[in-house]
This record gives sequence, structure tokens and C-alpha cells, in this order.
Amino acid sequence: MASAESTRTRWAGWIATSNDVTGQFLAAADQPGFVSLAGGLPAAELYPVEAVAAASVRALERWGGTALEYGPCEGFPALRKAIAERVSLATGGTFHAEHVLLTTGAMQGLDLLGKALVDPGDLIVAQFPTYLGALDAWRPRMPRYERLSWDPRHPNTDEQLRAARFVYAVPNFSNPTGVLVPRDQRAALLERVARSGSWLVEDDPYLVLQLDDPVGPGLLELDVAARGDRPYDGPVVYCGTLSKSIAPGLRIGWMVGEPGLIRMLALAKQCSDLSSSMFTHAVALELLEADVEAAHVPAILACYRERRDAMHDVLVAELGEWFTGDRPSGGMFFWLEARRGAIDTDALYQRALREGVAFVPSSVFDPHGELRTAMRLNFTRNEPDVMAEGVRRLARAIRGYLSEET
Ligand SMILES: Cc1ncc(COP(=O)(O)O)c(C=O)c1O
Repeated sequence: MASAESTRTRWAGWIATSNDVTGQFLAAADQPGFVSLAGGLPAAELYPVEAVAAASVRALERWGGTALEYGPCEGFPALRKAIAERVSLATGGTFHAEHVLLTTGAMQGLDLLGKALVDPGDLIVAQFPTYLGALDAWRPRMPRYERLSWDPRHPNTDEQLRAARFVYAVPNFSNPTGVLVPRDQRAALLERVARSGSWLVEDDPYLVLQLDDPVGPGLLELDVAARGDRPYDGPVVYCGTLSKSIAPGLRIGWMVGEPGLIRMLALAKQCSDLSSSMFTHAVALELLEADVEAAHVPAILACYRERRDAMHDVLVAELGEWFTGDRPSGGMFFWLEARRGAIDTDALYQRALREGVAFVPSSVFDPHGELRTAMRLNFTRNEPDVMAEGVRRLARAIRGYLSEET
């Protein structure tokens, strides 16, 4: 007969497929002097603390107890409306509150997509390598994955797209690769997915982090242009957030899409948390109305440009012998691939932790865990001299790894 203990520790099946890399680097980052190049974190010293404090006071004066209530599952009505107006303005389309679901960060939006659309064994066609948080969000749904191809010369088959519950794309400065997908490839994908009858999820947290040239239209904007100005009823489901433009601790995200889908996602949200915090929604409304992003984003961009360029120089100097990668034109990450595929970054990761530096190994961005020759490095969180020290430690870890291998 099974003992009480053995029953207590029998976890749901999906737990065995999870990874503890995030937990490991968060725990390591607490050690004094440790350099984490792992997380996708903003420069904390730039958070607009005073603007958020003032917005919090204004929110309570304006809404009183309403801001402290449970609220509608879809989110604080005035903020829903403000996001609908923002998206209408940005895309030239017609969006109303019914097109918008407010979420606890974009991450909850990903979770709700899995919850509302995916049964075990269902297919997700996802950009590869894939954002770890998305894989984590969908893990409990136990989907199958196939790769999204942006290349119109080698497109996903119509059959594949039709079979997918949704297609997942991060066209602007993707996580983890930092890649900016060109306009013609976006348009080609949109056209094929629209024909297939599947949903096309556009996850867009890095939109504001345009460090060089302005980016072209996103998938939602392209679809709006193709459909004219009737209320939106197309296949694109857009995920936005204030995490990168103001602060991640606000946990303000939104999904924008066809109203029938938004209703189903709201039902899924009700089963998760009843409602998000009306207080932070009311604060976010104040921040948007005061146009805090417009005042704040230029300072972020100046800081990130400098950090990206400093990081690029030190990566070339210290790691160029073993790794290669592009200088990203936005976002938060460098993606480095081992020259000649000769370095297993899972093994290197353990060595790097011992040297006092963390990166994210590529295997966690592969739904099948097989991509083991690349890594993601963040350039936004740390000052340039701290990043440089982290990269020097990484170079030491690589030398140690290679000397053990030979
Ligand atoms: C591609 C992508 N999607 C979603 C998120 C989650 O963002 P949020 O903080 O809004 O939950 C992130 C966070 O880094 C991300 O990189």
C-alpha cells in the first residue's frame, strides 16, 4: 500500500517536463558579487518611482474604494477603453473595450491562450527558438510543437497551419534571439495564417525598445490595413505590456483580439484569478493619461543603446573566438551561437554559475530541449562595467570547459 508521503509527492504529469533554470539563476543572483546576465530585466534605477507614486495617489482620489474592490474579470473598464483607443490609434483600426482583455502581465495572456484553446496533444506552431515563459505557460496543457518558419521560400504547410490551435510569433526583437522580422515576412505569414483559419498570436513586449531604426508595422496593424475600418474580427491576437516601457512590477498586460475570443479568454481568466488588481489598473490609467511613457522611454533607450554597444564590444573581444552573434537593433538580448557548434551550453552554464555569472542556455528555449549550442545574454539590467566583468567570467568558464573537454 502506498504511504501517505508517496501520495503527497505525486505531482501532476507536466511538472516533470518543467526546468529549474529560472529558479537557479534567480537564486544565484542573490549571492553577493554574482553577475546575472540571465534575466530579461529592465534597468531598475530607471523605474519612474515618483510618477508611479503620484499616479497611485491620483488613482485613489479619483476612484476611491472602487479601486480597492474586486472588479470585472475583463479589467477596469476605463483602462480597457483607454487600451482600445491606444490600439486604434497605433494601428488605424477600430477597437472597442470588447476587443480588450486586461491581464496580469503579458505572461497571463499566454497562460490564458493555453487554457482556453489547448487540449493535451494539440499543435502549437511557434517561433523557434521560443520564449521560455510561453513554453512554461503552456506546459500544463501538454501541447505538441512545430516550428514557425518566417521564410516565405520555405513556409509552413497549409495543413500544418490549419491543424495548429494557434501560431505564436514575437516579430519585434524576439526573445531569445533579438531578431527583428522584416515586413515582407510578416505580411507573408499573416496572409497564410489568415487563410488557414487559425489564430495568430503576436506577442509584442519589446515594441518600445527600438534602439536603431523605427520598426515597420506589426501583424495586427498589417491585418487592420487589409480589412478596413470595421470593428476588428481578424485572426491576430495581440499581447501588450507596460513591463518594458514603465515597470514590470505593475503587472499590466493586455490582449487585443476578436470579441468572441476575448470572451473565452475572460472566462479562462475568471477560473484563474476572478479579477486582476483594480488598484494597479487605476494607477496604469493615470500613467497613460499623464503620458508617462513618452517622458520615460527616451531615457530608457539612451541607457540601453549605451549598454548594448558596450556589451557588443566586450563580447567580441572576450568571446569572439568561440561564439558569434548579431548586434540586436532593439529589445534586451544578445543571442550567441557557438562557432562550429563545439560548446554544450548546458554544461557551460553549470561552470559559469561556479565562476559567478549566469546566462540562459539555449536548451530551455527549445520545446524539445535539444538546442544546446547557444545562449541568451541580457544587456539592459547591469551597468557596462558589471556586464564586462560578467563576460570575463564567462570567458574563464569557457576556457575551463574546453580544457576539461580535451
Ligand atoms: C516574449 C515575451 N512575452 C511575454 C513576456 C512577459 O511579459 P510581462 O512582464 O508583461 O508578463 C516577456 C517578458 O520578458 C517576453 O519576453
